[in-house]
Amino acid sequence: MSFTHSEADPQTLTQNVRVQYERFPFPPLALGALEQVKPPQADGAFAHWYIHGRLPKRPLRILDAGCGTGFSTLKLAEANPDAEITAVDLSQASLEIARARLTSAGHLHRVKLLRADLQALPKLGTFDYLHSSGVIHHLPDPAAGLKALRSALAAEGVAYLMVYAAYARKEILAVQQILYSLWKNPEDWNEGLMLCRTFFRGLPEGHLLKRHYQRAIAVATEMMGAEAAASDAFLVDTWLQRCEHLWTQPEWFALLSQCGWQPRRWLDEQAWNLADYLPGLPDYLQTLSQTEQLALIDQLRPPQNFALYVTSHFDPTSVAGQQARVRVRSQDIPVPFGFVSLQENLLDNGRGIRLELTEQTRRVWLNIKGQKSWAELNEPGPDLSGFWQQLLDYGFVALKN
Ligand SMILES: C[S@@+](CC[C@H](N)C(=O)[O-])C[C@H]1O[C@@H](n2cnc3c(N)ncnc32)[C@H](O)[C@@H]1O
Repeated sequence: MSFTHSEADPQTLTQNVRVQYERFPFPPLALGALEQVKPPQADGAFAHWYIHGRLPKRPLRILDAGCGTGFSTLKLAEANPDAEITAVDLSQASLEIARARLTSAGHLHRVKLLRADLQALPKLGTFDYLHSSGVIHHLPDPAAGLKALRSALAAEGVAYLMVYAAYARKEILAVQQILYSLWKNPEDWNEGLMLCRTFFRGLPEGHLLKRHYQRAIAVATEMMGAEAAASDAFLVDTWLQRCEHLWTQPEWFALLSQCGWQPRRWLDEQAWNLADYLPGLPDYLQTLSQTEQLALIDQLRPPQNFALYVTSHFDPTSVAGQQARVRVRSQDIPVPFGFVSLQENLLDNGRGIRLELTEQTRRVWLNIKGQKSWAELNEPGPDLSGFWQQLLDYGFVALKN
């Protein structure tokens, strides 16, 4: 399913997308905003660990494809302190904000910023970690973008792609179609914004689309702050997009495969277990193939976009789901991933798994600094082997190479 405000050719549409992001750079975040946020997908070493079961050789070469105002680039720079980063975007205005953001955080010396169209990416060399969040669905020709990115992936490289899921955006699509049928002059952004605000204000309380809007604003406020959630840029990005594709899971996987990509693991893996949604039908579940299960989960899971790690080809000898293979050995040295957070006695892996710590395991966690082996960290008292295995299985720690 795709949605554009006109039936223009890909070049004109790309130009329209550019005009939009020149005028409304995204995300509309002040420099220094959301310092405490540590997205797991920003960590390239984690991505390699998650997919290959081992930490990558460093320094990593990282591409942020469609970097916007550089918030994602900043998080990549923070999570990968010795990486060389290239950040590409169609919008010069966005790149200027990205430059200021990276300069003020002291990372610009190892970040190259480049204006380019992902559908016709210039030769930039290859990258060990490729990050693209919220971008591919805005390309008039997403296959061209996906193929260009595929050519920029190093052997053993990993990519993280976040794109729009059709079932998560039914209400947004409905509003976009209504607004586009009312919007007389698509060049006139003030008209579009006026229509959008007046439309939501006028909808009766309790209306499905109004409730959805209120929820979207509340979520954006929590994630980006009140100012960004109330901004023109947020309204435009959500309800007045120039070009947008929405995919179901089978459509998304088919497109990836056509472009030389192999889906590997979801970021939000715990949301992709069919038995959690159909617990009353165990006999039926057993008859379904994995492909059928994925398609059903797509319709049943909470309305989230696709946050997926992909590689160029599936290498069955590498460890996809390191749970099955990596075993705790006493001489191994655990290294905590930087985005894991501890609040009181709850350890959060940033991907939906929380471990409740005892007094003993809390003390031990605070000692894991990538220097001591499991054996040295062991305390007299209850056996910790189950705790060590959980830390590995759920990606709280990696093992030092
Ligand atoms: C929603 S923003 C996402 C920004 C950033 N990745 C993030 O997660 O904060 C989408 C970005 O994609 C960029 N973009 C859209 N089409 C593009 C294209 N063909 N080539 C490069 N960048 C593009 C836009 O300019 C915009 O900055």
